[in-house]
Amino acid sequence: MRDIRSDFPVLSRKVNGKDLIYLDSGATSQKPLQVIEAVAHFYREANANVHRGLYSLSVEATELYEDARRAVAGLIGADPQEVIFTRGTTESLNLLAYSLGEARVGRGDEILATVMEHHANLVPWQELARRKGARLIAAGITPEGELDLDDLKRKLSPRTKIVAVTHVSNVLGTVNPIPEIAELAHRVGAVLVVDAAQSVPHMPVRVGELGCDFLAFSGHKMLGPTGIGVLWGRRELLEEMPPFLTGGEMIREVWIDRATWNDLPYKFEAGTPPIAQAVGLKAAVDYLRELGLEEICRHEGGLVARALEGLLSRDYVEIYGPRDPSKRSGLIAFNLKGIHPHDVATLLDEEGIAIRAGHHCAQPLHRELGISASCRVSFYLYNTEDEVDAFLMALDRVWGVLGR
Ligand SMILES: Cc1ncc(COP(=O)(O)O)c(C=O)c1O
Repeated sequence: MRDIRSDFPVLSRKVNGKDLIYLDSGATSQKPLQVIEAVAHFYREANANVHRGLYSLSVEATELYEDARRAVAGLIGADPQEVIFTRGTTESLNLLAYSLGEARVGRGDEILATVMEHHANLVPWQELARRKGARLIAAGITPEGELDLDDLKRKLSPRTKIVAVTHVSNVLGTVNPIPEIAELAHRVGAVLVVDAAQSVPHMPVRVGELGCDFLAFSGHKMLGPTGIGVLWGRRELLEEMPPFLTGGEMIREVWIDRATWNDLPYKFEAGTPPIAQAVGLKAAVDYLRELGLEEICRHEGGLVARALEGLLSRDYVEIYGPRDPSKRSGLIAFNLKGIHPHDVATLLDEEGIAIRAGHHCAQPLHRELGISASCRVSFYLYNTEDEVDAFLMALDRVWGVLGR
């Protein structure tokens, strides 16, 4: 991959007097100049509200906003009318839990998730189940940290209306077999919702190949701005679903006591949308596609294999998730035996190394693993082998200070 580090201004700054080594892209990615400039250019040259004005500036802003939708649709192989802009994965999943839940779930029905879900793909379904008198159940994991497909099959039944599964676990790094799960879900008449927050930024994802019914992801984890995310859904399902938020933009006609809804995707985009953020997201998509998602995936695969080998060779480290790098994406959760993850992260920060420590919004999974928290390193296209080596050496120093 070409040298891209100079595209990311923040990577050349110092933290605590040391060169920043950013290993928390799973939480949010850094932004290249191309994205920063696209957002600044929009505010400087083209700012206006969209879908409203008849004047040229508004027409231009609308074109930029719709260009972004086409770019996202192109990235995931979708029809632009089925691409809805939201604030992020969390909002996309909440939209579904309300709207799809309203259309599809009733008393006694079941929603099937997995124990490896991020809270964003769990709590909205819990609330849906509570509102409707339905039941949320979860498929387990194998001792290797992969999804237990036999358990998932056992828990599917004609009562299952929605299956909600992450594509890539944000803790285990496990890549779930979505096409197979789609077939199983469809066999019992359920729809499949996929949380793609940790997959779309890192690997080629085409909705037609996944076979799912809905896909949710966030702009800020894929080089784009915060405040924008995506919900893709099958047209026939989106058509049958009631709106989530109501107000301006999402209506066709309004009377005092009732209203009718706009066409897709606008039915689900109430109010002024995140316009500058969409423009930034398009720049991010263009950037990712120019480098190539296959190439990015290959690059991250090399980094994760190196980090995994280094971690596994240290007997003071315990790692979670598959040991085979080919079975995981570009992140690794681990603990130093007997040491609290917050202490590890704090000492690494003193060396300019940013890692995540905590439950990573996956408390049920941590409970399943028998731990309350973990450290996590997550890689992206701008990380290097030297950074992996520097992290591993810093970890030895942390163990030297805290280990016993
Ligand atoms: C797997 C997964 N799902 C959902 C989310 C929530 O994303 P956001 O906070 O951008 O809505 C995250 C973010 O950490 C995630 O890793």
